[in-house]
Amino acid sequence: MKTIVYQKFGNTEVMQPVEEPTPVIKANEVLVKVKAVSINPMDWKIRKGEMKLMSGSAFPKHTGVDFAGIIEETGSAVTHFKKGDEVFGVVKNNMKDGALSEYVAIPSSNIWKKPAMLSYAQAASVPIAGAAAVAALEKTGKIAPGTDILVNGATGGFGMFLLQLLKDKGANITAVSNTKGTAVAKRWGASTVIDFTRENVLTQQKRYDIVIDLSGKMGYANAKQIMKPVSLFLNPTPRPIEIPTSLFKNLFTAKKHIVILSQPSSKNMTMLLNAIHEGLQIEVSRIFPFDQSVEAYQYAEAGGIIGKVAIEIN
Ligand SMILES: NC(=O)c1ccc[n+]([C@@H]2O[C@H](COP(=O)([O-])OP(=O)(O)OC[C@H]3O[C@@H](n4cnc5c(N)ncnc54)[C@H](OP(=O)(O)O)[C@@H]3O)[C@@H](O)[C@H]2O)c1
Repeated sequence: MKTIVYQKFGNTEVMQPVEEPTPVIKANEVLVKVKAVSINPMDWKIRKGEMKLMSGSAFPKHTGVDFAGIIEETGSAVTHFKKGDEVFGVVKNNMKDGALSEYVAIPSSNIWKKPAMLSYAQAASVPIAGAAAVAALEKTGKIAPGTDILVNGATGGFGMFLLQLLKDKGANITAVSNTKGTAVAKRWGASTVIDFTRENVLTQQKRYDIVIDLSGKMGYANAKQIMKPVSLFLNPTPRPIEIPTSLFKNLFTAKKHIVILSQPSSKNMTMLLNAIHEGLQIEVSRIFPFDQSVEAYQYAEAGGIIGKVAIEIN
């Protein structure tokens, strides 16, 4: 089968298309013929060696953790799926495995039935970004109408899910986005949009109950300037040291720094699938064919993307 591997950390030039044997499944696994993979920033952070502590440094590495496809074969212990089912899911170990291949062997606990209303590219966009948005929502606590929430970096994959889920809770959302994203941020639920290419959100007078930074560029020290005296900073891109230190420092401040670490699960996928059935939109702004996987990553890594970018495999 065709797949993409890399033999050292680096930019997209380390990505190589190669032929590998089709994986052999275990009793609890299914073999999925992959139809689409969505791109997440974690793919290139791992490839660039920025997450070595968790990914390890063994090569070759595969890439792409979110996928959708059709079940080709089921293991002897798999009961809830059958050959021909359309599914979406996430690789077993998202720091070490990759789904950007013709076939992938996956534990049946890591896949869910694809709703017919979603394309493969849309379904492949759900697990990582969607689970992260659900995790952020769980950390906000109770949201009353008029709770002022700032979402910084609001129109990428994570923001797409988060804005729409927050809107359903009645929050008063200010989104910070690039110029292209201002209209879409409003469509997804923001009442106010700040274009970060024209305005510095940190110099604003407004203060927020919750600041969520999806850009990875704001940081708690900056966010504090625009937080109300009792407030939350939600951080899905912590430096490793911030995971323990934020817990300790929170004992001494009412401006809490909360780290978001999420994992797709049946619980959060069920919640997302319900929201999708109720109208949550999944926007895949560009789809590349498998033989342009390198170009797909170059495009996504350049930024300025609305929603998700996906790669389709025939
Ligand atoms: N902890 C977890 O469990 C978890 C799970 C999923 C994702 N994440 C992380 O969460 C982050 C967001 O994920 P994503 O999938 O939404 O990534 P994404 O699609 O790349 O979105 C990031 C957004 O931030 C914007 N941005 C860049 N510079 C900015 C600035 N100075 N001010 C305001 N916004 C700015 C980007 O705009 P431009 O494109 O115009 O630069 C983009 O819209 C990533 O770092 C990802 O790795 C963490």
